[in-house]
Amino acid sequence: MQNNTFSSLIVGQKIVTLRQVDSTNNYLKLQLAKCEPLPEGTVILAEDQYAGRGQVRNVWHSQPGKNLTFSILLYPVFIKPDFQFNLNIAVSLAINDVLRSIVGPSAKIKWPNDIFYEDKKLGGVLIENSLQGSQLKSSVIGVGINVNQTSFPESVKNVSSLREILHQDYDLNVLLQQLCKAIERRYCELKENPGTHLTEYLGALYRFGEDHPFIIDGKPEVARIVGVNERGFLKLDINGSLRSFNLKEVSFVIR
Ligand code: BTN
Repeated sequence: MQNNTFSSLIVGQKIVTLRQVDSTNNYLKLQLAKCEPLPEGTVILAEDQYAGRGQVRNVWHSQPGKNLTFSILLYPVFIKPDFQFNLNIAVSLAINDVLRSIVGPSAKIKWPNDIFYEDKKLGGVLIENSLQGSQLKSSVIGVGINVNQTSFPESVKNVSSLREILHQDYDLNVLLQQLCKAIERRYCELKENPGTHLTEYLGALYRFGEDHPFIIDGKPEVARIVGVNERGFLKLDINGSLRSFNLKEVSFVIR
């Protein structure tokens, strides 16, 4: 019998490693557009992703060979489009599970789905869903984790890597396996019981329940995170008044 740690899993059973690609999300979406029959759980992994994309049109920088940049294909047809944020919750919790097990409880999820260590970003997630009628058809889960990189572009603020925290390299293959397993576990939990992860997600949120400065509609305000609604909007208590915001309307102020 072949000793393959991925053999019993959906996520990571098929891994396509690309030497160089603009973005693993773009690559996977292109394959889907060409109607390539791809099994659920297929992973596209890039050694050198030279035009990685982040949320709200940000760029994702990653030094070739140093980090994990990959995308997972899922077919979450059981999720109603109005509740698609539950997939972001499941995936970010999964990544946080793994990173907490490596660096400890200072790993947190910065809403909506960045992974932070103390006040620095360790990883990010870009989920791109496609709909068919009133159903989710496929989901491309793009994950970038800063693993062994120690110098970052001047323009990238509040960033760290596992190497900077642990003072030693972390094996990229081991981490990929851990992440695939954890994402599969959280995804299966979601399938069995949609909406099951909200309490855990809030418990893992960076700066939950504390007063902190934000930029809200372009203005500095001190506010407290009190929740996240089913559409994924951040619920803030601003001087006793409760309001919900999408990603374009609010940003965290981090010293
Ligand atoms: C963010 O923090 O804004 C999300 C970053 C997501 C980066 C990953 S790297 C693999 C995948 N391919 C991309 O182009 N982006 C995601």
